Amino acid sequence: MSAMPPDVSPAAGLFVDPGFKPQAYPIYDHLRTTQPVSSMPLQDGSTMWFLTRYDDVVAVLRDHARFSNDPTTIFPPEVLEQRYAALHTHLTPEQFAAVIEVDESIGRNLLGVDPPDHIRLRSLVSKGFTPRYVEALRPRIQQITDERIADMRLQAEANGGVVDLLSTFAFPLPLQVIVEMLGIPMSMRDAFRDWSNAAVEFNPMTPGDMGVNARLLAFVRYVRELIAEKRANPGDDLVSLLVQAEEAGDRLTEQELVGMIFILIVAGHETTVNLIGNSLLALLDHPDQLALFRSRPDLAKNAVEELLRYTGPVEASLPRWVREDTEFAGVQFRKGDQVMPILASADRDPAFTGDPARLDITREPTRHVAFGQGIHVCLGMPLARLEGQIALTSLFAAFPNISLAAPRDAIRYRVGFLLRATEEIPVRLG
Ligand code: HEM
Repeated sequence: MSAMPPDVSPAAGLFVDPGFKPQAYPIYDHLRTTQPVSSMPLQDGSTMWFLTRYDDVVAVLRDHARFSNDPTTIFPPEVLEQRYAALHTHLTPEQFAAVIEVDESIGRNLLGVDPPDHIRLRSLVSKGFTPRYVEALRPRIQQITDERIADMRLQAEANGGVVDLLSTFAFPLPLQVIVEMLGIPMSMRDAFRDWSNAAVEFNPMTPGDMGVNARLLAFVRYVRELIAEKRANPGDDLVSLLVQAEEAGDRLTEQELVGMIFILIVAGHETTVNLIGNSLLALLDHPDQLALFRSRPDLAKNAVEELLRYTGPVEASLPRWVREDTEFAGVQFRKGDQVMPILASADRDPAFTGDPARLDITREPTRHVAFGQGIHVCLGMPLARLEGQIALTSLFAAFPNISLAAPRDAIRYRVGFLLRATEEIPVRLG
């Protein structure tokens, strides 16, 4: 473990520092041993707690009695509004109104509600994401992957052999899969990229970023138009099925419908794009593991699990709200505090798996937390796994000599703490 200065703490703005991501893992190692439950004061007087140990992360994600995803179950609306206003004192009344509008429009999504609403909402979509249903999508996912690879070749020819892996392959592949499942035209692709980028550029230090809010409102407007279109012309896609469930009465409200479509679009591709990107980078950093993967495509399943553990795309789960004053891991949490389980740190905890900093695609499958745990565990897990396996095996089969076309330390990470995501990955196809 490398030595760290004593002020390595979230309170010093550590996690939102633009230079944080490339050195995150040694910092987590340091925090895990020196202050495994660390904190940052928030402007409303409450505290944001960060968890770095595997056992603590799992304990919070599984404890819905003490930790909630929905602050409206903890405080009455007037108290919540006061606390919310205290977090946004830097905004004009109009800007604050826009923040509230975004929150009300998309806040009631799967990740923003507790049981029993969570059970009701999740049961409406769970059938579309079972391993069996997803396996039936395999030929179509392979076809989309092959089309992307053909397109990469064309773009590389026009570009001296170099392309950006993310924009030509890793981004359009999962996006096309999810928009086809939802029944959305692919012509919306660029708009989606911008809107869902906005959704994940969350920064706990500056809640209420106005640029982000304006883009999210455009997203919400589009989702409402889409709902109207599916009401008029239903198909056999997921959005049409959800619209019919909403029309049937008590199964979901219009607000929940917007939230559901929002979360499916954002979660459905912002993550898998980075599974593909981060995995390629990690394998290029470990040529022995890359050579092994290339020569043993039968290891794909195992390799994807290890890559999720080693360099998962979701750095931290969404913060959970503390329902009542409670002690946790020797620390006193107060009602209304927020707790952020850092998944990336948990998956590198030596108490969870041996030699965690080593990438080993033959490692026995672990119970990693890259997909979260408990009732909010990733709905799209089977789909993401299949996409990751097909994408990586097809990529290495098509381009056995693929290499980075930029110095490794020139690869920049995107702003925002929640995702481990790079801006672009220029590659030479070889
Ligand atoms: C490698 C790719 C992916 C990773 C690493 C990932 C990770 C996660 C994680 C960590 C959570 C839980 C967050 C929390 O507890 O705060 C989650 C939830 C979720 N994910 Fe994924 N995800 C991936 C792909 C997908 C895909 C392809 C979909 C498809 C639609 C999807 C849909 C969802 C949904 C709807 C939830 C909320 C579930 C709930 O609250 O019940 N994810 N994901």
